Amino acid sequence: MDKKNNPGTVLVVGATGSVGRHVVAEAVRQGYGTRALVRDPSRAGRLDPAALKVVGELTRAETLADAVAGVDAVVFTQGSSYGDAAAAEAVDYGAVKNVLQALGGRRVRIALMTAIGVTRRGSTHDWKRRSERLVRASGNAYTIVRPGWFDYNDDDQLVVTPLQGDTRHAGSPADGVIARHQIARVLIDSLASDASDHVTFELVAERGPAQDDLEPVFGALDKDPAGSFDGVRDQANMPAEAEPERVRRDLGALTPNR
Ligand SMILES: NC(=O)c1ccc[n+]([C@@H]2O[C@H](COP(=O)([O-])OP(=O)(O)OC[C@H]3O[C@@H](n4cnc5c(N)ncnc54)[C@H](OP(=O)(O)O)[C@@H]3O)[C@@H](O)[C@H]2O)c1
Repeated sequence: MDKKNNPGTVLVVGATGSVGRHVVAEAVRQGYGTRALVRDPSRAGRLDPAALKVVGELTRAETLADAVAGVDAVVFTQGSSYGDAAAAEAVDYGAVKNVLQALGGRRVRIALMTAIGVTRRGSTHDWKRRSERLVRASGNAYTIVRPGWFDYNDDDQLVVTPLQGDTRHAGSPADGVIARHQIARVLIDSLASDASDHVTFELVAERGPAQDDLEPVFGALDKDPAGSFDGVRDQANMPAEAEPERVRRDLGALTPNR
């Protein structure tokens, strides 16, 4: 595929969300054929009109065949209410599991949004971390973006600043801030970037203008270790063998030779 003149088709999961809407608009702006996954077409009214709305339920793999057919890339921005473990499993984790299942092993480029602080144990964010693990185990090219607090930044706080190792655990905007439109740009820019493949990072903004080109920013980051379920320098505080049986089964299905 000629990425410059024909970047291909991207599916946005969580398209009706506060970040997903920006992702849809950015994908259209960058020339992608853009599909927005929606469960309820009446909620799709504010989406960029150039995007194709595809109806599917991200919690049910059997409804996603049309959404994934022929796509080159998938961007995940879905999210459930914080603190609801069942919803976190069904939505945050389930969307990744179900899209991978619907793809049936066909390779696509993935960009997954989770959250800063995702490696701190004991909250429903554990399911976001497990969704990251599915992506790493899937064999696809990917970028995992863990944003800081949405839209707490000032107008002059736009320098795209990635961090690695997930060491900020205040659970407040003190951990870092980032604009929603910037998250969208980073997710969509990553799709055509070899430098951002197999890279996981937290995303915050520092004072100053946004960079014109994110390729050097991506290129300065460390890749995730080959074969690891976790991001580079993540705490080893979620042993795979202590995970719930169903999670081990999902990972095992993606990595049958390990
Ligand atoms: N707020 C922050 O500062 C911050 C920082 C870092 C990370 N995050 C994380 O970012 C995530 C997404 O944020 P957001 O503001 O974009 O969320 P949002 O506006 O609530 O959007 C969530 C998306 O997920 C979909 N979804 C939710 N529950 C669903 C279900 N049961 N079945 C099918 N689809 C479902 C929604 O679809 P519908 O429109 O159909 O409901 C929507 O497209 C959250 O999980 C949050 O933890 C937040």
